[in-house]
Amino acid sequence: MWKRDEQDSQLTKMIEARLSRRHFLTGTAAAGAGAFLALNPVAKAVAASPQSSLLNFEAVSVSTADTVVVPKGYKATPLMSWGDPIFPGAPEFDQSGKQDSRAQERQFGDNTDGMSFFAISEDRGVLAINNEYTNYEYLFDHKGSSMTADDVRKAQAAVGVTIVEVVRKNGQWVIDKSGKRNRRITANTPMMLTGPAAGHALMKTKADPAGIKPLGTFNNCANGQTPWGTYLTCEENFDDFFGSDEKGEVNADQARYGISASASDYKWHQHDERFDVLKNPNEANRFGWIVEIDPNDPQSTPMKRTALGRFKHENSALTLNKDGHAVVYLGDDERGEHLYKFVSKQRYQQGNDAANRKLLEEGTLYVARFDMNGDQLKGQGQWIELTFGKHGLTPENGFNDQAEVLIFARRAATQVGATTMDRPEWVAVHPDNKHVFCTLTNNKNRGKEGQPVGGPNPRAKNHYGQIVRWMPLNGDHTSEGFVWDLYLIAGNPSVHNGDLYAGSDNINTGNMFNSPDGIGFDSAGRLWIQTDGNYSNKGDFAGQGNNQMLCGDPMTGEVRRFLTGPIACEITGLAFSPDNKTMFVGVQHPGEEGAPSHFPYGGNTKPRSTIMMITREDGGVIGA
Ligand code: FEO
Ligand code: CA
Ligand code: CA
Ligand code: CA
Repeated sequence: MWKRDEQDSQLTKMIEARLSRRHFLTGTAAAGAGAFLALNPVAKAVAASPQSSLLNFEAVSVSTADTVVVPKGYKATPLMSWGDPIFPGAPEFDQSGKQDSRAQERQFGDNTDGMSFFAISEDRGVLAINNEYTNYEYLFDHKGSSMTADDVRKAQAAVGVTIVEVVRKNGQWVIDKSGKRNRRITANTPMMLTGPAAGHALMKTKADPAGIKPLGTFNNCANGQTPWGTYLTCEENFDDFFGSDEKGEVNADQARYGISASASDYKWHQHDERFDVLKNPNEANRFGWIVEIDPNDPQSTPMKRTALGRFKHENSALTLNKDGHAVVYLGDDERGEHLYKFVSKQRYQQGNDAANRKLLEEGTLYVARFDMNGDQLKGQGQWIELTFGKHGLTPENGFNDQAEVLIFARRAATQVGATTMDRPEWVAVHPDNKHVFCTLTNNKNRGKEGQPVGGPNPRAKNHYGQIVRWMPLNGDHTSEGFVWDLYLIAGNPSVHNGDLYAGSDNINTGNMFNSPDGIGFDSAGRLWIQTDGNYSNKGDFAGQGNNQMLCGDPMTGEVRRFLTGPIACEITGLAFSPDNKTMFVGVQHPGEEGAPSHFPYGGNTKPRSTIMMITREDGGVIGA
């Protein structure tokens, strides 16, 4: 059974022991790495103790098959696939690629990603699910080669968010097409900007001269869930959807976010002028935000929360600090970008959700600076406030107000000396509310100018990724100080030997993987780890197979493979039914770039992004 206090103290002791016992690495990288691996307390704990009491399933092997594999005694069943109707009378999926935008507007979007489950009753809930982007090779019969205005409209309807009620019938969850909460949010849904950047000159466009009413959300990567019952969807690679066919240049602030004046592959700019960066340069400033959505009210207006900063948001891990402040950890998934934290100005009020729904409107944004003590793989760190007038965020340095600090959060982070990271993906807060984990998925640019090797990013040309873990000082998430170490370093011990590319000692030939991305805890404290990596199964990735999901014990460091995905997919998105007996897992873009997948329906069907339900044949709790 889960004993939280016991776990708290054990885990606290564990990390403290690690911080005091781990030695400096000396000499060559290889010798240093050997010293680290030999001394890694996680490895010692794994070797010295019996198997983790948290991980109660048989590991699955790597796989290159076009299916989802789960442990013995478990099964995986599709819940919903891209194109499934979510309203009464909406058309069924048609794999010809010829359905129009009106059909897609009433169907599940493409590329399922982060998702959250909101319980309504024991047997009814609502799932809010991100639809990150769309694959033209499957969306259109012409594969995107000859886009019409309606094709653009259809692509804009294939992204965003899907909200759908689910009901348990005969022990199995199914979608309820008649659910009152069902909703599609697309790239054209009216939204509202809130916080310091709302109404700023940089947010004003021809269509919205007040700069407060943007249309839509897209590239919705991962997610967050608030204690006041709202869903957070996170706008990541929004730059992909902007472009131009004209000759012209973008400014340095646009370029920092990847915006360019060249043609975008999605071709929205050809039929929808707001995506032409030369004609509407401010439109892109209205994307790259956290959007708060009420999943229970399909008439509600999604709110873009500018106080949480503009970057390529991965997820938003919200926790209530012991004093009631809402604290949100936020990764910016780009090579050499940063890790952020938001602290609400006001405090959570039990039973007053009208007030709580304003908590993300106002607060302080911080960015992380990690110690870089030589080769040491642990240390201390500091959250640096990104507030206009502080730390050089002044007009002399190109910041004229708080809105500019937030709209150009990346430039502000550079100004204050934040640590460049190996692509921060998801952050997850342990149920003990003391330990926080973040996947650093990979970074081929590590070691190049401006991205020094060291600290939490210890390998040049990092193609495997690692998971960093930190504890706020005194268990206070509003504290500006923290201590950190690495929970694991992914690698390939069958290809590399004696250096950090073999991975930390809790990685072995039986559980290895690359590119950790989605992570989340279940209520018992199991750390679920999903991968978005190289699935070639060759060279540096030999023996790692398709993308997968693993389960880690955050205390002992043991990591065990739980699931493998089909061909050319990413595993991303994780939610649990309230009884923890059904786990919802996203299989994103099987058959990406034309790879030979027919997941999940086989035969000659098109591969389709799908939410899978994982259950136990004996009806028990997942992982227990
Ligand atoms: Fe959409 Fe960084 O993953
Ligand atoms: Ca991701
Ligand atoms: Ca990724
Ligand atoms: Ca993907």
